[in-house]
Amino acid sequence: MALETPLFSATLISPEVQSILPKGYTCRPLQRSDFKHGHLDVLRDLAHVGDITEEQWTERYDWMSKCNGTYFVLVIVDKNREGGKIVGTGTLVVEKKFLYKLGTQGHIEDVAVAVGEQGKKFGVRLLQGLDFIAEQVGCYKTILDCSQEKEGFYVKCGYGKAGSEMHHYYDSVAEKYGV
Ligand SMILES: CC(C)(COP(=O)(O)OP(=O)(O)OC[C@H]1O[C@@H](n2cnc3c(N)ncnc32)[C@H](O)[C@@H]1OP(=O)(O)O)[C@@H](O)C(=O)NCCC(=O)NCCS
Repeated sequence: MALETPLFSATLISPEVQSILPKGYTCRPLQRSDFKHGHLDVLRDLAHVGDITEEQWTERYDWMSKCNGTYFVLVIVDKNREGGKIVGTGTLVVEKKFLYKLGTQGHIEDVAVAVGEQGKKFGVRLLQGLDFIAEQVGCYKTILDCSQEKEGFYVKCGYGKAGSEMHHYYDSVAEKYGV
């Protein structure tokens, strides 16, 4: 598979988001070469990533790629830095349901903007970009979990509080992944 292969079609990139990004920045699907463009460096600002080799990263990328229509990882790239440096990322996971006349629901995960690039509206652009994809692929809504401190950010992105998050850790597995 070619290194520039995108995880999903570039036709799903919001033209509006693309047009309002500052000069020198672009929004695009994650591509197979993005280990080299700092994808994990940005995620490290969000949570524990661990030591992942390029081979392992590519294996996961290829796996996601095969789950056609399920994983949409969006990135914002500073085109002028190091041949294209990722400064922000967010993921839409698309769930096909039996409920609601076989409805489709989106889940937003792993939103992160590099520490030195925060406060420039890249976070809100990522959410707008993910919302655009969700609507295009037929999601009736998108949900996400966040810490209380981040609620204000998601409200600014048009999200509203609903219910409460529940979790159940499986300790023996969680330990293995450093969660
Ligand atoms: C949270 C995060 C994605 C926001 O991205 P960002 O690019 O810095 O935010 P933006 O510049 O797009 O901010 C958009 C608006 O949200 C506000 N905002 C940003 N972070 C906020 C927060 N934690 N609480 C309340 N409001 C916040 C901004 O002030 C801005 O408001 P304005 O439109 O009135 O000026 C980013 O700070 C980040 O990656 N943090 C570390 C990882 C993380 O916590 N991810 C979220 C996991 S749930």
